[in-house]
Amino acid sequence: MKPRLVYVNGRFVPYPSASVHVEDRGFQFGDSVYEVWAVMDGGLIDAAAHLRRLERSLGELRMTPPFTPAALDRVLREAVRRNRVREGLVYLQITRGAGPRDPLFPPHDRSATVVVIARGVDRAAVDARAEAGISVSSQPDQRWGRCDIKTTGLLANVLSKQAARAVGAAEAWLVDGEGRVTEGASSTAWILDPAGRLRTRALDAAILPGVTRARVMEIARREGLEVVEAAFTPEEALGAREAFNTSASGFVTPVVRVDGRPLGDGRPGPVALRLRALYLDHVRNTRPQIGVCAQEPGS
Ligand code: PDD
Repeated sequence: MKPRLVYVNGRFVPYPSASVHVEDRGFQFGDSVYEVWAVMDGGLIDAAAHLRRLERSLGELRMTPPFTPAALDRVLREAVRRNRVREGLVYLQITRGAGPRDPLFPPHDRSATVVVIARGVDRAAVDARAEAGISVSSQPDQRWGRCDIKTTGLLANVLSKQAARAVGAAEAWLVDGEGRVTEGASSTAWILDPAGRLRTRALDAAILPGVTRARVMEIARREGLEVVEAAFTPEEALGAREAFNTSASGFVTPVVRVDGRPLGDGRPGPVALRLRALYLDHVRNTRPQIGVCAQEPGS
């Protein structure tokens, strides 16, 4: 769904005319970071955790945060409000700014470009996808060595997702040099192994520390499930009881086929569906308290 107003460097401008400079470093070098929040019932999900990850991404790239977390939180909520988003996503991008093309950092660090786009999504379609389950296709992980930083350098993700689409899969599972899945092109990959343990790769520079991953891990442990942080191969996934992906945009999405072969009976597994329901309960129950600053009365 099309946003109406987009935040660009301090102003909300109409979507069709929203633009950044041709020599923006995000455009030329991918010298920029981003975040994506889910919006449910008009509220930001796990706002504080995403803001913490953003601060970390900025720090790793030695970019000075252009705002305090509280000020940024206000801009995000204002973007949601001005676009009247009830169910959707908020995308934030911060680049090192514009200037004559030079790989070296600009001499002073005061010209970040900040863009916030809030848009509605068809949540019924997302739910239908989860109820049917998705296919994944394994693709070589050709990304750089710091995938723990949420940068917009996403070319390898784009190409692998497109390659997955070409074989009829909705997501790519990226596979490292040892044959193990790192993560999805835009999600965290999980299996429920034959012993009934949840498995997802341990955090390292090869994967993004997913906010949904952390939340689902907490929920799963609370439910008495054993969670093991250990990578798995696509072959192990095919021998698993269940598999699923997690992300801010898809929540918990069951995986029912890997490389064209059905996983189990080829239907979403009960544990994945239960984790999805519990995650949605968490979202609904905690939403009013979420955020690093209180919502102003009447806003
Ligand atoms: N994607 N791994 C990658 C490579 C991702 O791009 C994402 C998120 C995740 C899951 O992270 P989280 O649970 O914090 O959303 C894992 C976002 C949604 C995107 O690029 O649209």
